[in-house]
Amino acid sequence: MSQILDGKLVSAKVLDSVAVEIASMPQPPTLAVILVGDDPASQVYVGNKKKACERVGIVSQEHFLAAGAGQAALLSLVEELNRDLNVHGILCQMPLPSGYDYDEQALCRAISPAKDVDVFHPENVGKLMLGEPELLPCTPGGVLELLDDAGIDLAGKHVVVIGRSNIVGKPMAMLALQRNATVTICHSRTKNLPEITRQADVLVAAVGRLHFVTADMVKDGAVVVDVGINRLEGRKVRGDVDFDAVAPKCSWITPVPGGVGPMTISILMKNTLQAAKLQRGEA
Ligand code: GUN
Repeated sequence: MSQILDGKLVSAKVLDSVAVEIASMPQPPTLAVILVGDDPASQVYVGNKKKACERVGIVSQEHFLAAGAGQAALLSLVEELNRDLNVHGILCQMPLPSGYDYDEQALCRAISPAKDVDVFHPENVGKLMLGEPELLPCTPGGVLELLDDAGIDLAGKHVVVIGRSNIVGKPMAMLALQRNATVTICHSRTKNLPEITRQADVLVAAVGRLHFVTADMVKDGAVVVDVGINRLEGRKVRGDVDFDAVAPKCSWITPVPGGVGPMTISILMKNTLQAAKLQRGEA
């Protein structure tokens, strides 16, 4: 039977260490969070970020724009926050409302790279590619933190990532490569997917499809990391991995909820602290 990679526990450890460091600073860092529109899921995410800031001692600013505010108003808010020396991190909750003319890529380029705690700006994505990131992409960074906490070393391992999104799949592959893993990225056009996933020492599922990874796709003793957040009816959330069937085969596995999810926000807090230190010349 597998051991659980406990995101709640490891996230709490990260948040505690961030809080200790912030407590010793003369001025706490500030994170500005922008929410455009009133999508309920986004409101929950923004609320959770505020709670995490309160827990670690980061000053949180919330900026709410109406769904129809428009790209120009959004960019002008971003410019104002870029110029504000008291703001160290800027994050705009994605996705932007559909049915309007928002341009997410232009938004990512508008946020000052130094304050880009999401690591979405092309300059920061480039630094990640070059193996010299200053801040960690939040979800993939959270996966590494979970693996590190369990003493799972990626060097020489075959890491198979299912999913090629800019937020998870691609940066996850880069971070694993920097840890000297052999990396395969699979996606919707991959042929013979189970044949490839069965070769994985570490399998990362970031597909966005409920129970996509089944027991026959997993090698005995593999480490399985589930990045999926699939909402069932009501408030229940399940992952991309069929946990009950897959867990007996694994050495380690993340549950959903309580696995990777809580890690993302703790890396965001770590990034905001690091961004503040870099901007103040303290890092
Ligand atoms: N929406 C879903 N995930 C994310 C994320 O990591 N950052 C932002 N800004 N929005 C998101």
